[in-house]
Parts: sequence; structure tokens; C-alpha cells
Amino acid sequence: MTRHLLTIGDLDAPTLHALIADARACKADPSSVHGQLTGRTVLMHFTKASTRTRVSVETAVVRLGGHPIFTRGDELQLGRGEPIGDTAQVLSRMCDAIFIRTFAHADVEELARHATIPVVNALTDAHHPLQALADLMTIEEHLGALPGKTIAWIGDGNNVFHSLAQAAALAGMHIRIAAPEGYDADPEVMAATALIAAEYGGSVTELRDPAEAVAGADIVVTDVFVSMGEEAQTKAKLEAFRGYQVDSRLMAQASSSAIFLHCLPAHRGEEVSGEVIDGPQSVVWDEAENRLHTTVAVLRHLLV
Ligand code: CP
Ligand code: NVA
Repeated sequence: MTRHLLTIGDLDAPTLHALIADARACKADPSSVHGQLTGRTVLMHFTKASTRTRVSVETAVVRLGGHPIFTRGDELQLGRGEPIGDTAQVLSRMCDAIFIRTFAHADVEELARHATIPVVNALTDAHHPLQALADLMTIEEHLGALPGKTIAWIGDGNNVFHSLAQAAALAGMHIRIAAPEGYDADPEVMAATALIAAEYGGSVTELRDPAEAVAGADIVVTDVFVSMGEEAQTKAKLEAFRGYQVDSRLMAQASSSAIFLHCLPAHRGEEVSGEVIDGPQSVVWDEAENRLHTTVAVLRHLLV
């Protein structure tokens, strides 16, 4: 059976830890992976904007000696209505893996159903597994062993949160979310994640009050209030998320050694203050760099 990475749910706990360990080894010795994908092709098809994901995947493929092909939404016949299944079968005859960034998660699932090569979710409206791997790697680098650590997520129960929660659960961490009413995480994802967290000694707690969520937390995380594709909801969301900004006052209620994460791009003055994201507790540049190293590890896991 072809292995895919559509959500963190496609990984088990040993694989999650192995990916992070491999990413850290590849970061320490980048040349050790040279030539491992020589002659192989990775198709990246993105129908949403991207800086980190696009550049990290392309760079990871090149670092491994492979060839990345990047296509935008309207560049494949898919954009003119060619069925996803047909596209998957054709790409499977030519390429070695597909990284896809798009809106509907179901489209990525359909692509994976018809593909005979690995499909990797490079962000959908529902999940962002590559980001979660980089986040856990960054936490481990800065704070050491993951089990038992507490993450406080302030803001939208969105794609990035779903993947981070799933990864944190598998790593035996405690994850708290403070979201305003109407912007909770997907209840099905949360129910399944809570079971996994319990199995590994962690927990999932859903709250409304940011202060309650960050109290004593080791890691404070947020993301944009308005995700790609939600532009029409901007006014309503910015109103609903008033009081959910991660600022110095909120950070002060976390552990004194707490770190701040944000997948980026960030909106200073909305979900985070400039003081926090550009301050001493912020590890967002390491987090962004680690997108590259974790993607190298994912490619090695799926293709080498
Ligand atoms: N964090 C992240 O996925 O960034 P991009 O949208 O720039 O890829
Ligand atoms: N939640 C954001 C993440 C961007 C990397 C979005 O989906 O736009």
C-alpha cells in the first residue's frame, strides 16, 4: 500500500519521533542526504499562496538530489476540470511523489485514493501536517523531551491547530485551546485527538479564556485569524477574535521559560503583538527553518 501523509493521523508515535530525530540529524549534517533522490521527481501542486512550504519542499528535494516541479492551480488541466482521479493516475506514471496545497481536504483524499505514489498534504482547509512536524521539532530543540509539556493555542481552531493537536497528542503532550465561540476546532478531530492524547499520557482541553489556556504553559502558539479562503469573513472574524491577541501581558502568564511559536505569515497587531513575535521568547525563525529539515525527513521516510 502506498504511504501518504494527509494528516498527522497517518503517523504512529514511533514514526513521529523518528521523523523529528531524522530532521535534527539532517539539520546537523545537511550534506549527509545529498544524492538520495537522484533522478526522481516530486510534483508540487499549489492552488493557494505559499512562501515557507513552497520554498522548503523545493529546497528539500534539491538537497536530496531530486527534481521538483511546481505548478499553480491553473497550470494543470485539473484547473480546467480534468478529474482528480485521472490526474492522480497520470502523475503516478511520471513522478515519485505529489505535494498538494489546496482548499478542500476531500480533494487531497481523492488524489491519494487514485495515486500509486505518496501524496503529501502541503496544507488544506482542515490540516497542515508538515507544519506540525516542524513545530514539534522546534519545541524539542528549545525545551527538550516533548512528553508532558503543555501547549497553549490562542485563536482559531483551524487547519494548523488540528495538525498541531494531533501531533502533540501522539507525543504525549497537553494541548489547550482558547477559541471564541463559533471558532472551535472540528469536534470529530478533537474527540479522536483526546483519545490518542490519553493513550500517551497527554490531554486536550478546550477553553474560551486565553489567560486560562496560557497559565503556566511551556509553549504559546497562535496563527492568523483569517486563513486563506476566508477573506470574506475578515470583518466578522477580527471582531470575534478581539481579546485573543498574544501580547506581553498574556505571555507573562505562561511559564517564565515559555517559547512562542507562529507558523507564519503573521499579522502583527492582530493575533500577536510585535513585542512578542520579535521578542526574546519567540522562536518563529527556527520554526520556519525547521520546515526545511522536517520536509527532508518526510521525503526520506516516504521515498528513500
Ligand atoms: N507556514 C506556512 O505554511 O507558510 P506558507 O503559507 O508560506 O507556506
Ligand atoms: N491557517 C493559515 C495558515 C497559513 C500557513 C491558512 O490556512 O491560511
